[in-house]
Amino acid sequence: PARPRVLSGIQPTADSFHLGNYLGALRNWVPMQETHDTFYCVVDLHAITMGHDPALLRKRTRISAAQMLAVGLDPERCTLFVQSHVPEHAQLAWVMNCLTGMGEAGRMVQFKDKSAKQGADRTTVGLFTYPILQAADILLYHADAVPVGEDQRQHLELTRDLAQRFNTTFGRTFTVPQPFIVKDTAKITDLQDPTAKMSKSSSTPNGLIELLEDPARAAKKIRSAVTDTGREIIFDPEQKPGVSNLLTIYSALSGRTIEELVAAYDGKGYGDLKKDLAEVVAEFVKPIQQRTNAYLDDPGQLDKMLAIGAEKARAVAVPTLRSVYDRIGF
Ligand code: ADP
Ligand code: NA
Repeated sequence: PARPRVLSGIQPTADSFHLGNYLGALRNWVPMQETHDTFYCVVDLHAITMGHDPALLRKRTRISAAQMLAVGLDPERCTLFVQSHVPEHAQLAWVMNCLTGMGEAGRMVQFKDKSAKQGADRTTVGLFTYPILQAADILLYHADAVPVGEDQRQHLELTRDLAQRFNTTFGRTFTVPQPFIVKDTAKITDLQDPTAKMSKSSSTPNGLIELLEDPARAAKKIRSAVTDTGREIIFDPEQKPGVSNLLTIYSALSGRTIEELVAAYDGKGYGDLKKDLAEVVAEFVKPIQQRTNAYLDDPGQLDKMLAIGAEKARAVAVPTLRSVYDRIGF
């Protein structure tokens, strides 16, 4: 039987992915290439919903793709592409817009949060409808499963509702996707505010470790990471979120279990842990940085890979849109 198909995307909205993106998402995408039919997308359409600079977007789209390749996504084993290269995303999104109720879209919590931060006058209609574009992203490929974090569950519910609604109204067309819960997904928190998630939009510059940053700078951030009162190195996310976050990162990057690390640091101090973690981070990012730079240094080759990815994606997207258009009377 065919492997279940998975679609996942990431926004090109930063000069580098951070450890939260990597440990919470990208890292899990790599082994799925062996078990699933995987479609991975740099979602640049989603990156223009809150205002953007064109040159920066172009640069970040390439950097994002290069990092995805550098962490182990293999164009021979997955379909890696840029969303805007496949115009069917926007075309299907329009159809889905016309199937979504205003009230239904207005209940999306992410929109409420993001628009509250932006203020009403700076909030675009694109931000309002982006969960519907997300639904189109998924349905276009008949994805069976979508890896989702807690914050994206509501959007996947909307996607499922829209798929069922279309199928009921116009005839069976779409696969209704299931959430794919990745076990052991690490939740990484801000180094300066260990109760908040590490995030490019909300973290302080020193709260975030980027894959592409200078390891010496990362070491400095780790040294100044907020730890907890007491001096014992134990894993307790409630009482000791700072130390626990460092242990989570350490364990994920080194492959050593948390228990092993706690035993190894018995009797040692936070300073020892931070110093060693900085080395682990440096060792880990070094090859990723080298590979990313190699991809960026050969723009012709990167473009070629992305063009092949878009072609593979369109081989699925074009027939899907054609059958949608046919069913709705176009
Ligand atoms: P950000 O919060 O920095 O804007 P995104 O929302 O673009 O990041 O997230 C891209 C992917 O990375 C998503 O799959 C998301 O679940 C994951 N991710 C982001 N931040 C973290 C984090 N701190 N811990 C775990 N996963 C994260
Ligand atoms: Na975010």
